[in-house]
Amino acid sequence: MTPLVVAHRGASGERPEHTLAAYEQALREGADGLECDVRLTRDGKVVCVHDRTIDRTSNGTGIVSAMTYESLNGFDYGTADDPANVLLLSELIELVLDWKTKPAKIFIETKHPVRYGGLIENTVLAELHRFGIARPGSATLSRAVIMSFAPSAVWRIRRAAPLLPTVLLGSASRYVGGGAATTVGATAIGPSIRTLREHPDLVDRAAAAGRATYCWTVDDRADLEYCRDTGVRWVATNHPGRTLAWLDSA
Ligand code: G3P
Ligand code: CA
Repeated sequence: MTPLVVAHRGASGERPEHTLAAYEQALREGADGLECDVRLTRDGKVVCVHDRTIDRTSNGTGIVSAMTYESLNGFDYGTADDPANVLLLSELIELVLDWKTKPAKIFIETKHPVRYGGLIENTVLAELHRFGIARPGSATLSRAVIMSFAPSAVWRIRRAAPLLPTVLLGSASRYVGGGAATTVGATAIGPSIRTLREHPDLVDRAAAAGRATYCWTVDDRADLEYCRDTGVRWVATNHPGRTLAWLDSA
């Protein structure tokens, strides 16, 4: 099976991660999905930032959850040539829904769900409702996929929005027997490429239980071919253009 290609934090191998430029490039290159990490600001906005702080990805410093959206937006998340604002999840959803060439999906990973006690999932769901995409006709038709390393986050999403597809990220023990993926009813498993290489039977076991596999972060050609040959459904990569070209030429 040819895997579908998810741009990890956008085309983040070429452009600054979690910026509109990175996501626009991924869409232009033909990505099937866009991955983003989301956090809550102090004033309850959902922003696309991976780390707890903005120190690595902007010209500022500070903890995302302790700052307002306005103060976060006082810093630059792009490059000297191409400055960028902190990206709201709503802006990313708008980009994807406005992109008519291909109906790409958004893979939304909630960060720190345990600490927020459900607030992040509820706020993300409210955003999906606002855009009319929280209640897809089926998991296949859904434009959004919710992902987390926290089983509790996947569980909350499954209860609140049963047709939204979910990915439980993490280690192999979660995906076998009556592990966490079964307990919380995740629609897909999300091992890293390292975990998958160590446990090559994971994809088949998941498929036998009706679950697809999402694998990250697949930037190496041999890893990509391994994912294709084992039946991985989604590969997340920092280089979507190159990955799609590799798949085309195989
Ligand atoms: O796509 C899943 C992957 O992004 C999980 O790891 O640290 O990049 O969020 P991380
Ligand atoms: Ca992520």
